[in-house]
Parts: sequence; C-alpha cells; structure tokens
Amino acid sequence: MSGSDKLVAAARAAREHAVADFSHFKVGAALETDTGEIITGCNVENASYGLTICAERVAIFKALSDGKRAFTRIVVVADTQDPTPPCGACRQIIWEFCGDIPVVLANLKEVTATLAMKDLLPRPFDKTLLGR
Ligand code: THU
Repeated sequence: MSGSDKLVAAARAAREHAVADFSHFKVGAALETDTGEIITGCNVENASYGLTICAERVAIFKALSDGKRAFTRIVVVADTQDPTPPCGACRQIIWEFCGDIPVVLANLKEVTATLAMKDLLPRPFDKTLLGR
C-alpha cells in the first residue's frame, strides 16, 4: 500500500468513529506529519449542535496537543460522490497550522479531488498580518 493509500485508509477508518447522531453525515480525516506519522480525526456532534467539531480540526488539534508541528498532507473522507471540501473554519485552521499542503478528498471507494490549500483559502488572514 502506498503512503497515499495508507492515509486514505486511515481517514476511512477514522470516519467509522464519527459521532454524527444529528446530521448522520460521517467524516474522517487523516493528517500526515513530516516524519510520516498519521494522526486521525472524526466529526463529533452534540445536542447543542453549535459545538460540533469537524474531523479535520479534531485531527489537527490532536496532533498539535501531541507536540507535532509540521504536516505534509491531509485526507478528508465522506460518503459522497462529489468531493466534500473542508468548511471555512477548517480551512482557516489547516492554513494556519499546515500551510499550503495538499488536501485530498475521498469517498469510500476513490479519491475524488486533490486541492492545494492556497486555492481553498485565497487571501488568508494569518500571523504574517500580525507581524509574526
Ligand atoms: N463536517 C466535517 O467533519 N468535515 C467537513 O469537511 C465537512 C463537515 C461535519 C460537520 C458536521 O458534523 C457534519 O459534517 C455535517 O456538516
């Protein structure tokens, strides 16, 4: 299995853990670190709805809290024929913590798109504008 297939398989497996009792829309994410480690996430919904967190942010926050700081790719898996791209909040977080990485979108059968973060979030707000 290639590195890319492994990452897609990890996102599909993470999707199985989705806590999506309200939308029933299960999403899995797999984030690759610069050392080739894989950190996964799934969406987690709750009764107040608004505190829902997407699979991508779960994966990134898990990785950051484990001390990982450099990332090379993220895969997002949903059971849709059309690619399911990250929401606006996730685009901001992916951009700030991962930079211009490839975002691989897949469903249960195949990869449906691979997009660059710079194209998903043109003219981003980030720490460079804060002089950092
Ligand atoms: N969701 C994700 O986890 N990632 C995406 O890229 C799109 C949306 C989740 C949030 C919510 O739990 C459900 O999918 C429906 O919006």
